[in-house]
Amino acid sequence: MKLRPSFFLPLLASAAPSNAANLTSLVNLFIGTASGANGGSGGNAFPGAAVPHAMAKVGIDVSTAPRQAGYIHDNSSITGISLLHDEGTGGNTDGGYGVFPLFPFIGTCSNSSGVNIATCQPGIAARAALRAAGTDVASPGYFSTTFVSGIQIETTSTRRAGLIRFTFPASSTGSNYLVVDLTNDLGRSFSGGTMSISSSGHVQLGGTFLQSYGPSNYSAFACYDFDSVPLQYGTYQSASTSSPAVFDIALSSSSNMSLQFPFTTSVSPVQAGGLVHFNATQVVARFGVSMISSAQACSNAQEEVPVTKEGAWDWDAIVAASQSEWEDVLSRVQIDVEKENATIVELLYSSLYRASLVPANFTGENPYWESPFPFFDAMFCSWDVFRTVHPLLSLTSPREWAQIVSAYVDGWRNTGFIPECRANTKPGYVQGGSDGMPILGEFAVKYAEQAEELGVPTDDLYQALVDTAENTAPDWLTVGRQNTAWIMFDYIPTDWVDPSGDVGLPTREASRCYEYALGDFAVRQAGIALKKSQADIAKYANRSMNFVNMWDPNVTSDGFSGFAQRRFQNGTFAFTDPVTCSPVDPIAHSCARGTDNDSGFYESSSWEMSFFAPHSVATLVRLMGGNTTFVNRVNNYFAKGYFTAGNEPSFNIPSIYHYAGRPDLSALRVRNVVFTDFSTQIGGIPGNDDSGAMAALLTFHLLGLYPVQASTQFLIGSPFVSSYTLFNEAFNTETKFTVSGFDPSTIVATPPSGSRLFVKRVTVNGKDTGSVCTIDFEDVVGGGEVVIEVDGDADAAAARGCGPAGLPDSLETGGFAL
Ligand SMILES: *[C@@H]1O[C@H](CO)[C@@H](O)[C@H](O)[C@H]1NC(C)=O
Ligand SMILES: *[C@@H]1O[C@H](CO)[C@@H](O)[C@H](O)[C@H]1NC(C)=O
Ligand SMILES: *[C@@H]1O[C@H](CO)[C@@H](O)[C@H](O)[C@H]1NC(C)=O
Ligand SMILES: *[C@@H]1O[C@H](CO)[C@@H](O)[C@H](O)[C@H]1NC(C)=O
Ligand SMILES: *[C@@H]1O[C@H](CO)[C@@H](O)[C@H](O)[C@H]1NC(C)=O
Ligand SMILES: *[C@@H]1O[C@H](CO)[C@@H](O)[C@H](O)[C@H]1NC(C)=O
Ligand SMILES: *[C@@H]1O[C@H](CO)[C@@H](O)[C@H](O)[C@H]1NC(C)=O
Ligand SMILES: *[C@@H]1O[C@H](CO)[C@@H](O)[C@H](O)[C@H]1NC(C)=O
Ligand SMILES: *[C@@H]1O[C@H](CO)[C@@H](O)[C@H](O)[C@H]1NC(C)=O
Ligand SMILES: *[C@@H]1O[C@H](CO)[C@@H](O)[C@H](O)[C@H]1NC(C)=O
Ligand SMILES: *[C@@H]1O[C@H](CO)[C@@H](O)[C@H](O)[C@H]1NC(C)=O
Ligand SMILES: *[C@@H]1O[C@H](CO)[C@@H](O)[C@H](O)[C@H]1NC(C)=O
Repeated sequence: MKLRPSFFLPLLASAAPSNAANLTSLVNLFIGTASGANGGSGGNAFPGAAVPHAMAKVGIDVSTAPRQAGYIHDNSSITGISLLHDEGTGGNTDGGYGVFPLFPFIGTCSNSSGVNIATCQPGIAARAALRAAGTDVASPGYFSTTFVSGIQIETTSTRRAGLIRFTFPASSTGSNYLVVDLTNDLGRSFSGGTMSISSSGHVQLGGTFLQSYGPSNYSAFACYDFDSVPLQYGTYQSASTSSPAVFDIALSSSSNMSLQFPFTTSVSPVQAGGLVHFNATQVVARFGVSMISSAQACSNAQEEVPVTKEGAWDWDAIVAASQSEWEDVLSRVQIDVEKENATIVELLYSSLYRASLVPANFTGENPYWESPFPFFDAMFCSWDVFRTVHPLLSLTSPREWAQIVSAYVDGWRNTGFIPECRANTKPGYVQGGSDGMPILGEFAVKYAEQAEELGVPTDDLYQALVDTAENTAPDWLTVGRQNTAWIMFDYIPTDWVDPSGDVGLPTREASRCYEYALGDFAVRQAGIALKKSQADIAKYANRSMNFVNMWDPNVTSDGFSGFAQRRFQNGTFAFTDPVTCSPVDPIAHSCARGTDNDSGFYESSSWEMSFFAPHSVATLVRLMGGNTTFVNRVNNYFAKGYFTAGNEPSFNIPSIYHYAGRPDLSALRVRNVVFTDFSTQIGGIPGNDDSGAMAALLTFHLLGLYPVQASTQFLIGSPFVSSYTLFNEAFNTETKFTVSGFDPSTIVATPPSGSRLFVKRVTVNGKDTGSVCTIDFEDVVGGGEVVIEVDGDADAAAARGCGPAGLPDSLETGGFAL
């Protein structure tokens, strides 16, 4: 990107100003933590302690599924406080990670002549305890809850370590125990591991567990130390695999003890771990985590939570450091928190928070290859996050984004393909395309000139794109694309047996075709930005238009003609009712990845997926019959309930009216979607937060922007705040957006007639851009002032269209010019 230095407003410091409000206090970590059971919204948000892009995500785990992030904001009993979690994901309803939980209880494990099993309950079912109502407290960097027994748990953390504080009631002195659980991860998938405990209470653990969304297992390690010397310590283990909840307990106060369970290829029901008996009323545990070894987990703990000169761990300093990292992230988007609507303020900062929890920085924790490049995990999945999370990072977190992009490229460097859904350090399942491609293409078009300085070798980035666009992975179930089919047919045929011998699921043909097309557009975009050959650029531009090959003009639904459909290798179409897999599908269908998916669409309907070609929406408008029919069709999609607010393929549709010259209708629709589907309540996310995908989407809606993936273009909406400032550290710019004529009465689902909702004019540093539909990245982060003038004349807005600069870019109409 080419910046215009004369418009720079230089910053005094490299980060956003420190005179900001206490933004962390505005974050509500419980949004999206309602149970997904019985049709609940199941945001699966993680409300525990974590720093931005943390590996350690410490939180409590409930006993009832679904519990993808461990926590559910209900009265379920708690079985532990564990060290690693996912954020907002779907996948295994039991959840991902949740390894090596600690659990406090009051009891007696031994008397002078043996073990009193009755009150010594380390097993997961027997120990489960209820929280006292209303005691869950969370803020960035801190989480606390209190059991009905009166035991309080608090935690705070760093990238790979942290502290957990247990405060027992005074009355239980002498009977305070902690369980250090080796075997019970959230998925109950223990497949072997070891634990040792020394007389000082130093515990080292390692175990192998199953991924939450993928075919593999992984190993994780931890290290625990306590701030007081135990009265007694020891081990417990299942008496037998057939009696996993009956325990042999061995306690000691002098010699080291250990447990060892050899690796098993099937999950073991065994329960085992350590028991530590304290006399103290308050016990602080320090933990470290690692994917390499328990020794490294211990050194991570020592490094990140050091012993201070006073000989203790500094709880307040760890909390303050985490909070200040969050303050830095949040302050990159600044608004007047006193003046703007309080609900919008809470939604905005809570969303910015969740959009920076993952991908997780596992640098130094890569078990598979040595590399000088960063290593990130929980890319869970690129399919979820390429639409909104990465474009948001591109605006305000360029340095973090560059590291994440570099980790994607390093995945290619070491495996031959851009990772798609790396989770628990292993490749997870591919959902549609290889959607790291639009992420890399977008980085190229936005940061080509700064890439080397930001640590991203651009020749490698481009080669990663080309290899992923051309080669078929032997296991395209977990990485890459079925390029054999894509290149041979220019679409993904149904009923075609791939002769390559490569292994994948031959389903989701139509969805994959649309996503492969966008992936090829990303190669074209990177080719231009990185000055690659005209032949490459033309080739990938051409291939990116092949989504039209899934278009069956003869299919009709609700009076609209032409829908994406599966297609046989002989070229004829296989009919799927376009309503199939929509929220109002009258027949139960599997709409997932498996071979039982017979619709051709992945977590979406033809009604919805037929709107997906961000790089050439003009083609869709043409195929669907022109502006008026297109607008009617979008309206019908919402009116009939085909909109799936809670899942990613729907993300682009509320703003798609722009492409028919009707940004006024997009503005109305976005207001409706935000207030119908999002709120500050525990059920305030319409579906899984999906690694912050929903959070980043809501952020864009509130700021009046929507990103066109793999490009520098943003669609302009009508902001929900009267002004905001974006800080970009790579360009050292601050860009202030002001809504001239901002009308608080539009902050509702259905703005009253005449309220000033519609964008009338946009100026960048005083100059009219000529468009009320789009704004370029260069202007969004270019420094200076963007003024968005709004008015309430709906007829004028409809007549104005996009303004003199015309419709948003589409390849078909010559957009995204070289
Ligand atoms: C921020 O606000 C929270 C909650 O009101 C408060 O506990 C915290 O001390 C404040 N932090 C700073 C740095 O002012
Ligand atoms: C938990 O909440 C549910 C639903 O609100 C209620 O039916 C149940 O009685 C509660 N259980 C306990 C133990 O409080
Ligand atoms: C120790 O506990 C066991 C098991 O409950 C019990 O049978 C035994 O009598 C106890 N011994 C003493 C000395 O309290
Ligand atoms: C006990 O464990 C500690 C810490 O792991 C270790 O330093 C010590 O050497 C061990 N002692 C014995 C006797 O194994
Ligand atoms: C788990 O890992 C082991 C050792 O790498 C391997 O033999 C086994 O097949 C794996 N199991 C699964 C389910 O991935
Ligand atoms: C346990 O704590 C109590 C109260 O602080 C104290 O009186 C007692 O001596 C302690 N016992 C041991 C074995 O340290
Ligand atoms: C990731 O961790 C590495 C190693 O500590 C650090 O240099 C880098 O800044 C971190 N990046 C992010 C985005 O957290
Ligand atoms: C792509 O290239 C093929 C072969 O040259 C050509 O037939 C086709 O029309 C091109 N498609 C587009 C959209 O340009
Ligand atoms: C659509 O229907 C017409 C009339 O039956 C037929 O000629 C044409 O081949 C069909 N097109 C496709 C793509 O199936
Ligand atoms: C195309 O293939 C499908 C599936 O095998 C078959 O049902 C259909 O009859 C074929 N059509 C033609 C024109 O060959
Ligand atoms: C659709 O609307 C846009 C914007 O108003 C206009 O430029 C374009 O010509 C229209 N297309 C057709 C086919 O009318
Ligand atoms: C903020 O907007 C919400 C949603 O329209 C509304 O319910 C609330 O009253 C507004 N708050 C204030 C302080 O105006």
